[in-house]
Amino acid sequence: MSADTSKKCVVLGVTGGIAAYKACEILRLLQKQGIDVYVVMTRNACSFVSPLTFETLSGHPVAVDTFERPATWEVEHIALAKRADLFLIAPATANIIAKMACGIADDMLSTTVLATRAPVMIAPAMNTGMWDNPATQQNLRTLESRGVQIVAPATGYLACGDSGAGKLEDVSVIAQRAIDALFAVQDLKGLRVMVTAGPTREPIDPVRYISNRSSGKMGYAIARAAKRRGADVTLLTGPVSLQPPAGVTTVSFTTTRDLLERALEYADAQDILIQSAAPADYRAKTIADQKIKKQGGEDFVLEMIENPDVAATLGKAKRADQIFVGFAAETQHVAEHAKGKLEKKNLDMIVANDVTAAGAGFDVDTNIVTLMTREDSRQLPLMSKDEVADRILDRIQELRMQKTNA
Ligand code: PMT
Repeated sequence: MSADTSKKCVVLGVTGGIAAYKACEILRLLQKQGIDVYVVMTRNACSFVSPLTFETLSGHPVAVDTFERPATWEVEHIALAKRADLFLIAPATANIIAKMACGIADDMLSTTVLATRAPVMIAPAMNTGMWDNPATQQNLRTLESRGVQIVAPATGYLACGDSGAGKLEDVSVIAQRAIDALFAVQDLKGLRVMVTAGPTREPIDPVRYISNRSSGKMGYAIARAAKRRGADVTLLTGPVSLQPPAGVTTVSFTTTRDLLERALEYADAQDILIQSAAPADYRAKTIADQKIKKQGGEDFVLEMIENPDVAATLGKAKRADQIFVGFAAETQHVAEHAKGKLEKKNLDMIVANDVTAAGAGFDVDTNIVTLMTREDSRQLPLMSKDEVADRILDRIQELRMQKTNA
């Protein structure tokens, strides 16, 4: 809680990177929205920007790593941890990310962030090699699974001379994400939302399967957004390498028939069902008991049979008070095919996804979609899957309102 309850409070952690000076601008942008900002700096950050700069801008003493004054330090870190309505670390180095992932508290900032109960957001900035390092990526996944919000770095020319991912995201984007998180609406509180995500795997023999390129990113983004907005979320997930969002009930499936079974188990209890999974339409007619051997130069023909259509099956049992949303991954005649699926699967909305467009579809962090209902069609520009998730949920809320008023 902020000391002055009428004013929201951001505790801004600044770590030692060349982008540290940009934290001054973030502070100013937050202040312009009437937000009170307290700054905590690491010892290294002080080599880039003087604490006096942040002290002058924020109007508050800056907490620096002062092991020289342990008594003050002990009291200050708890007070700051409690004061925060949001804890934002920008820029966040690979080092602070690693410490947070491991729960290490060996300086003022790491101790304060470990002690806080406020939502935590980080905006990483570092050299591309450090960003790409599996250790950093693993640490980020760990933090994400605990509910830490990550403002992914931009790609560009870095101070070290390299080009690639690792550049601190634009300060206005970071400030806006912080503001959104601070004033996050809990408009889905009390609602049960089921999201399906990821691919299926249809076995052929004990070592092979047929699958597709779905990474689960779109569905996980929806589950994350619904959770953040207060929903009770059940995530049905195919085999992906993502960490499920914290606080979400996660149920795994492998094949389309598994998905159907799990979905039937959970669907009736839901208010909203969003099906972004990519289930296989076909499976092998027979699964070989042993590994299939080469055919001595002959063609190998695999006979396939149709899988059940999960969305269409669920659509048949949809109650009037439920909202069902599907996705349509298309490579041609996108609108026409999507419209057909909206009807055939008895959906309230379909998210039409031209998976051939650059920056859209499978295994990327962005998407380009059109939200189609029976009344209208709203085309969205290229945006992050997190933003797409929120836009889908916003539209669902409008549809719920329409149903209530009908
Ligand atoms: O996972 P990502 O890498 O982030 O990629 C996201 C995505 C491209 C997978 C996602 O945006 C998307 O488009 N998901 C739908 C994929 C798909 O299977 O589309 P479809 O047009 O084949 O199916 C239409 C709808 O019916 C979907 O809601 C699908 O979940 C459902 N379906 C499909 C086949 C089937 N047998 N049963 C189903 O329920």
